Amino acid sequence: MTDTSASRPAKRVFIKTYGCQMNVYDSERMRDVLRPIGYAPADSADEADLVILNTCHIREKATEKVYSELGQLKLMKQERGGDLTIAVAGCVAQAEGAEIMRRQPAVDLVLGPQAYHKLPEMIARASRAKGDRLETEFETLEKFDALPKTREADGPSAFLSVQEGCDKFCTFCVVPYTRGAELSRSVDDITAEARSLAAQGVREITLLGQNVNAFHGAAPALSNEADWTLGQLVRHLAKIGGIERIRYTTSHPRDMDDDLIAAHGDTAAMMPFLHLPVQSGSDRILRAMNRGHTAEDYREIIRKVRAARPDIALASDFIVGFPGETHADFEATMQLVRDVNYAIAYSFKYSARPGTPAADMAGQVPEQVKDARLQQLQQLLREQQAAFNRSKIGQTVPVLVTGRGRNPGQAHGRSPWLQAVHFDLSGDHRAHDRDPDAFLRDLVGQIVDVRVIDASLNSLTGELVPVREAAL
Ligand code: 5AD
Ligand code: SF4
Repeated sequence: MTDTSASRPAKRVFIKTYGCQMNVYDSERMRDVLRPIGYAPADSADEADLVILNTCHIREKATEKVYSELGQLKLMKQERGGDLTIAVAGCVAQAEGAEIMRRQPAVDLVLGPQAYHKLPEMIARASRAKGDRLETEFETLEKFDALPKTREADGPSAFLSVQEGCDKFCTFCVVPYTRGAELSRSVDDITAEARSLAAQGVREITLLGQNVNAFHGAAPALSNEADWTLGQLVRHLAKIGGIERIRYTTSHPRDMDDDLIAAHGDTAAMMPFLHLPVQSGSDRILRAMNRGHTAEDYREIIRKVRAARPDIALASDFIVGFPGETHADFEATMQLVRDVNYAIAYSFKYSARPGTPAADMAGQVPEQVKDARLQQLQQLLREQQAAFNRSKIGQTVPVLVTGRGRNPGQAHGRSPWLQAVHFDLSGDHRAHDRDPDAFLRDLVGQIVDVRVIDASLNSLTGELVPVREAAL
């Protein structure tokens, strides 16, 4: 081991992330903001001087987890004689900041998703006084502008935030209240970040937004064009050298325009995967949810997407037990799932969120009914997911290598359809001729051919298809 004590930064930060990929991205950006003021990342709260919980408010269960975690941290802080700074960030912070301070006085600071660039200032303030510890104003543009344009990449796959917030106001959802109004970043800013990532070896970028296909970012500064759509942005980013794979998440059926659908067919970097939440297969429920589309509208989009890209893997989100959901409504959801046939899907019991219109609707569904419906739906979704993974057995698929695999002599990577792939390197003579670790290190960030041998619910296993020497 080398001695790094001379250069070791004075402090360490541990960020625990809950919820969606937007929070994963925000946690990375908080690390970026804290690095210049001397905070290095820690692997656990035990090793940290500053612990940040980046929280999720989407369902009640997610919120309650935060309070129980804070209870643990309070004990840790007491054991250390107060020598631990505790921060709560994310959507719970935004929605109930004052309540957090009241319920857990050990918390030093609370900051909403638009305030991360102010972290250094807030930490300094918190250490000086117990005053101003709450920062939950909405200033999305300021956040986008204030965050560094370049960032440290962590492996060959990276998230890139292009849009935040949501104006759709689905009646069950807290996002429009916690993340604020829909707002897009400029194409120039996004391009600068994508270039910086590509220069650091990133090959796959996932464009992020609560409503990512509602993207309408300012066109490049000198172009004099109107705002760009997501389809235009994808085609533009695909031209950056090194960016070989582009994904986007999460989208809304109402914003699935024809150009974006066409890009799935004509842009090589666009990966054959689409996460398009539908929530329910019943028109009555979709109306009560204020989704702004019918089940048939959704089926039509799926038909078009499949026509553009026949091998596309489809993903979705579902809510069971929305107020007023009858057995027939639920059956319509099951039928939609059978018709579409998903590669993967996320399903949830409806959770009443205070302040949202659905929380006050008549016909709240009993918990046991929700449980039974969720089980039934998840059983069907699991069958579809396993079948989708099995359908790749025997195929040779391009895999972006991300690191070491589960077992020695194995690497890990990702298929175009977002499946985790564990694959054996031993079939390739270079794994024997060279130091195996060095061989694996060289492979990370490359897209290699893997023959799929087996599949489980959550991953594929296979073996590296040897390439001729000249190819490396
Ligand atoms: N109850 C249950 N599930 C919800 N989601 C959003 N709000 C709620 C809620 N109140 C689900 C939706 C959404 C996903 C991110 O979380 O399916 O697409
Ligand atoms: Fe929530 Fe609906 Fe907006 Fe998605 S589209 S974030 S479910 S309000």
